[in-house]
Amino acid sequence: MVKQLVVRFVAVLLMLGAGVQSPVEAQTKDIERTGGPYVPTPQVVVDQMLRFGRVNQADYVMDLGSGDGVIVITAARELKAVGMGLEIDPELVARANNTAKKLGVNDRATFQAQDVFKADLSKATVVTLYLLPGMMMNLRNKIYDELRPGARVVSHDYHFGDWVADDRYTFDVPEKEFINGVPSATIYLWTIPAKVSGTWNIKVDGLSQQYTAELSQNFHLTNGTLSNARGLGISDVAVKGEAITFSIWNGSVRHHYRGQVKGNAMSGMVNLDGREAKWQALRVVSK
Ligand SMILES: C[S@@+](CC[C@H](N)C(=O)[O-])C[C@H]1O[C@@H](n2cnc3c(N)ncnc32)[C@H](O)[C@@H]1O
Repeated sequence: MVKQLVVRFVAVLLMLGAGVQSPVEAQTKDIERTGGPYVPTPQVVVDQMLRFGRVNQADYVMDLGSGDGVIVITAARELKAVGMGLEIDPELVARANNTAKKLGVNDRATFQAQDVFKADLSKATVVTLYLLPGMMMNLRNKIYDELRPGARVVSHDYHFGDWVADDRYTFDVPEKEFINGVPSATIYLWTIPAKVSGTWNIKVDGLSQQYTAELSQNFHLTNGTLSNARGLGISDVAVKGEAITFSIWNGSVRHHYRGQVKGNAMSGMVNLDGREAKWQALRVVSK
């Protein structure tokens, strides 16, 4: 308890020392920082986050609660990505836009004063976050629903609860000892899955039998049942971006399907005892 108070106190002192508003100042200015106070991600962590998210010049990066703009500016300068930072505090927005201009990347890195809950995230191919746990949970459905399949989400230190990350990485960051009492950072990576809940009719070239599969999805988890084929089963359904894999089995014989989801259609290949066959599926009922 005492240690926590000391750490918080030091953090506020550091923020003040850095010319940054304390949470109290923010409140008195009526800024609703639902995602927590401004605390910048150290540059070494920013670099790892962008590497972890495989950010490149084809990406559109959105940092939600962008502070002084360090993540989007680094993505634009170092990786030639385009990006937008959304930040509730107009002074931080002005600071970030000025820095982008000074560094000559204001054509690719822009910042807007906006509550992230009111933003349209659909354009982002990468979303970055350094927000308090409650805000992470409040934003989780919006991010899951609005981002396109295959988009990556990279978060510093905080996660989405039972939406388990596809990957995580913890490393030493001594300067964070002064910020939150822990001299390390953890970064998390999620890839937005295609939405596959519903009823699908699956047809395999060369097989007379069609399968009807009921798929249900909860973030990273997908389950399935076959409703029209007695004695057969579907298992190991996994969706990552637009890629899907699953097994259809009959007793001890198991066939491994792999393919791509495009809206209400899927297609791919399956190995049927040594013979590669094409399969297609159409969603007949969405859930
Ligand atoms: C911990 S800082 C992270 C800053 C930056 N993303 C970084 O990693 O360096 C969180 C930022 O989110 C901003 N913020 C909090 N709630 C917000 C909201 N509802 N909409 C937009 N920004 C918000 C805060 O003002 C603060 O600058």
